[in-house]
Amino acid sequence: MFIFKDQVAFVTGGASGIGYAIACSLAKRGAKVVVADIDVEQTEKVLKDIPGEAIGIKLNVADRANWLAAKEETESKFGEVGILINNAGVIDNPFAPIAEREFLDYPYEKWDRMININLAGVANGIKTFGPTMRKNRCGHIVNTSSTQGLIPTAGLAAYSVSKFGVVAITESLRDELAPFDVGVSVLFPGATASRIALNALKDAGVSVADGTRMASGLDPAVVGEMVVEGIKNNKLYIITHGEYRKYCEDRFARIIAEFTDTPVSPDYSPDKPLPATREWARDKYVRKV
Ligand SMILES: NC(=O)c1ccc[n+]([C@@H]2O[C@H](COP(=O)([O-])OP(=O)(O)OC[C@H]3O[C@@H](n4cnc5c(N)ncnc54)[C@H](O)[C@@H]3O)[C@@H](O)[C@H]2O)c1
Repeated sequence: MFIFKDQVAFVTGGASGIGYAIACSLAKRGAKVVVADIDVEQTEKVLKDIPGEAIGIKLNVADRANWLAAKEETESKFGEVGILINNAGVIDNPFAPIAEREFLDYPYEKWDRMININLAGVANGIKTFGPTMRKNRCGHIVNTSSTQGLIPTAGLAAYSVSKFGVVAITESLRDELAPFDVGVSVLFPGATASRIALNALKDAGVSVADGTRMASGLDPAVVGEMVVEGIKNNKLYIITHGEYRKYCEDRFARIIAEFTDTPVSPDYSPDKPLPATREWARDKYVRKV
C-alpha cells in the first residue's frame, strides 16, 4: 500500500489544470507538494488553495540546469522526492488552420519546442529524481501522455510523437524500476477542462481573458483522484476517457491483421527470448536485486 502522508510530491505544470488537480489530490492525502511551473504568477495564485503543505518553484522542464536547481531547492525545503508527476505540456494553437499544422508545413521551431517540453521535459524529470527513488527503494513516477499517445491523428504529428515517446519511456522505466519497488505509470487524459488551449493561444500571441479555462471536458479534479488511485494500485495505464477504447481496438486490430500474412523469420526459436521483447530484456537488462 502506497503511503502518501509526508511524501514529497514534485508536480510539473502544477499551477494549472490537471497538474494542479493532481497536486490537490496528493496534498489532501498528506503529501508535501512542490508546484513546479514556468508560470510564476499562476503558481503564486494557486498555492494558497492547495489543501496542505505546498511550495512553488519556477521550472522550465526543458531546461536541465533548472531541474538541478529545483532538486536542490526541494530537498533543502522539504527533503527527498518520493512522488514525481511529470505533467507539464503544451499543445499547438488549436484554432490555427489545419494546413499550418500538417507535418510537411510544420516549422522546425515548433517541433523542437514540442519535443523539448512534452518529451525531453519528462526525461529530464526522471533523470533528476529517479536515482534517489531507486536508492531509497521507494517512490512513484507518473508521466502525462494523452489519448494522442494511443492514437496518432493527422494534423497532430508533433504532439503525438511527444506523447508516444512518453509511453515508451514509461514502459521501459517501469520494468527497470520494478525491482527497486518504484512504480511508474502513464496518464492518458482525454479532453479535460484546463487552460491548455488558452495557454496555447497566449503562446501564439493571442490575448485571452485571465482565469478562463477550456469550456468543455472532464473536471480536472476527477483526473487528480484517478491519478491517486493509479499510484495506490501501481497501475501502468491510467486512462480517463472510456470512449477511446474503440479507437485503440481499431488501431491494434489493424496492426494484428498485418501479422496474418507476415512470415516468421528463419532464425526465430520459440525456446529463446525474442530480442527486444520484455522477456528478453528481463533476462538481459533488468537488474536482479
Ligand atoms: N487538457 C486536456 O484536454 C489534455 C488532454 C490530453 C493530455 N493533456 C496533457 O495534460 C498535461 C497538463 O495539461 P493541462 O491540460 O492541465 O494544461 P494547462 O495549460 O492547464 O496546464 C499546464 C501547465 O504546464 C505549465 N507549463 C507549460 N510549459 C511548461 C514548461 N516548459 N515548464 C514548466 N511548466 C510548463 C503551464 O504554465 C501550465 O501551468 C499536458 O502534458 C497535456 O499535454 C491535456
